[in-house]
Amino acid sequence: MRYALIGCGRISPHHITAARNNNLEIVGVCDIDINKLETAATLLEHVHQYTDYKMMLEMERPELVAIATESGKHASIAMDCIRMGCHVIIEKPLALSLEDADQIIQLAKQKGVLVCVSHQNRFNKSIQYIHNAIEQGRFGKIFHGSACVFWNRNQKYYEQASWRGTWEQDGGALMNQCIHNIDLLCWLMNSEAAEVFAYTANLRHPYIEAEDLGLALVKFQNGSYGVIQGTTNVYPVNLEESLTLFGETATVKVGGKSVNEILEWKVADAQDDPENIKLKFSETPPNIYGYGHTPLYADMIDAIINKRQPLVNAEAGKRAIELILAIYQSATLGMPVKLPLLKGNTIYFKGQFENE
Ligand SMILES: NC(=O)c1ccc[n+]([C@@H]2O[C@H](COP(=O)([O-])OP(=O)(O)OC[C@H]3O[C@@H](n4cnc5c(N)ncnc54)[C@H](O)[C@@H]3O)[C@@H](O)[C@H]2O)c1
Repeated sequence: MRYALIGCGRISPHHITAARNNNLEIVGVCDIDINKLETAATLLEHVHQYTDYKMMLEMERPELVAIATESGKHASIAMDCIRMGCHVIIEKPLALSLEDADQIIQLAKQKGVLVCVSHQNRFNKSIQYIHNAIEQGRFGKIFHGSACVFWNRNQKYYEQASWRGTWEQDGGALMNQCIHNIDLLCWLMNSEAAEVFAYTANLRHPYIEAEDLGLALVKFQNGSYGVIQGTTNVYPVNLEESLTLFGETATVKVGGKSVNEILEWKVADAQDDPENIKLKFSETPPNIYGYGHTPLYADMIDAIINKRQPLVNAEAGKRAIELILAIYQSATLGMPVKLPLLKGNTIYFKGQFENE
């Protein structure tokens, strides 16, 4: 399958590795920044390089394109790729507005192509095992879930790329860092968020526009509840990304730096040995991005071949951003907000923390 990559920044090596591991034919790579392009090219000998992605799409006619540019550009680039008939893997978040998310969903349907969003943690061994156990009914009703991202992002990280932490191109701790765990919470609770109440703040990063702390309470349509704590303020380095699920017949916690270690496995049916589960389904990847891009690509390729939806499709990507936009809205209004939202866009929150 002919594959091309748009955006050769920090996350791009994970896409290149995933493409290689899945035997994709890498036909083109594109970045508007020549230095980034040249760095990527050292990993990609004989692959055609472009500084204009539209030209690359014309010349190379890829069947599958990955988009790993700054978040605020995902939607317009994705729509250009979809119009050209390409399937797309879009880095998270899918888009920064609901309008753009809906347009991507509609256009992909019209063009008969698939959209996958890089919420790769769904493919962590730990998360897959938990999901299967939930599907088998082993947790009973899940009463509440708690999603925590306690990470550190310092000034150096934000200075690496001027788009980070801006409302127009990124959002803050929730939209950038915590979104993976928010996706997992929604997926594992297996319900749509119905209402949210939240606080957000910028306490430690005066040089960015968006929040560095988000605290939210979520009520799901199925009567379950969720708690979200996402921050990039943690001293001095990343502490944990964890998810704890409290079910009728199970209490399970997955943690580590990035939801890759099963820390608690208390399941009433005692079908498996908790110590064995903790060992067998825990991983220690070299960084927080984990090993998930390769299986996410494998799932998307299989979806294309077998004409089915990928596990993390555009609707799933929209669900995560809609909840975050509702959190932003609730924090701004100081009151609970009901979902689905009629509209939502990170740029509505421009200036929110200016006087703090
Ligand atoms: N899935 C994950 O775990 C994960 C981790 C990190 C980042 N991300 C996401 O990946 C995206 C990129 O993040 P990053 O940290 O790699 O950013 P980055 O700034 O390091 O890289 C983005 C690159 O895109 C390039 N670019 C911008 N506009 C372009 C265009 N029109 N055509 C071609 N290239 C263009 C930039 O020049 C830059 O090199 C973001 O949306 C981010 O949220 C996901």
